[in-house]
Amino acid sequence: MAKILGVGIATLDIINTIDGYPQEDSKSRIIKQRICRGGNVTNTLVVLSQLQHQCYWAGVWTNETNGQQIIKDLANYGININYCRAVKEGKVPTSYIVLNQQNASRTIMHYRDLPEFGFADFKKIDLTIFDWVHFEGRNIYETVQMIDWLKKNYPNLPISLEVEKLQPNIEILFSKVDVLMFSKKVAQCYNDNAINFLWEMRKQVSQAQLVCAWGNQGGYALEVDNNKVLYNLAHIPPKIVDTLGAGDTFNAGIIDGLYRTQSLKIALKEACELAGNKCGREGFDVLGY
Ligand code: FRU
Repeated sequence: MAKILGVGIATLDIINTIDGYPQEDSKSRIIKQRICRGGNVTNTLVVLSQLQHQCYWAGVWTNETNGQQIIKDLANYGININYCRAVKEGKVPTSYIVLNQQNASRTIMHYRDLPEFGFADFKKIDLTIFDWVHFEGRNIYETVQMIDWLKKNYPNLPISLEVEKLQPNIEILFSKVDVLMFSKKVAQCYNDNAINFLWEMRKQVSQAQLVCAWGNQGGYALEVDNNKVLYNLAHIPPKIVDTLGAGDTFNAGIIDGLYRTQSLKIALKEACELAGNKCGREGFDVLGY
């Protein structure tokens, strides 16, 4: 069991299930509405906590009704929030999500007005207790400082970075971490072919394990020591119900697998299995299949 710190966001997700994606300027009936906690890093931590890791969230929240709902959900999974910053004003980041029940696609509209978790907050954390630190690829210049600080003071602490969206200057982070987890969307901005993408990325990043989720086609990775390409088929559940957070779940599988076994091959297999389980059900209780 590892002590894992996750730096990133928690959100309130308002998930509206509809039967087919609506046309612009039309009216449609929502079949079902679910309001729950979301956010990439906290989704990943919730999965890791089910794999028996002790998880800590570092992010910003606000103590209003929605913020309390988020904290309650994290508490249910035993996630520690002592290193978070609670602000007095504002609303927690909120995602308005359309879940199309015909194909389980999720379309996310995201609103936020809270400040980001910054280097000043990060410096207050007692990092000696951790076995792994995972970052969302956001808030780039503050994150650069956090990672530089970590590497200078705790050079043996593994660092993973999720790259779900391309943001200006995000590439600065690529050469600083041990594990890079790319979404299919980001990979395709470089190359439509996953393997070609990984080789292209290897030209700029020599020090990291490279991983890339590829939706219903599984996942790809490129090992750091011997540049071996790895592929694992997707695990397709009996019915695909909800793809929201499948990538976050996949990342949890990579972290857990790598931490426990140091084998990227095993980690990739686990990531595909967990992500598939997640797609077969609502929410993040992904074990027990
Ligand atoms: C899924 C998710 C949602 C959240 C949004 C934030 O990956 O984390 O839970 O609303 O993405 O970008």
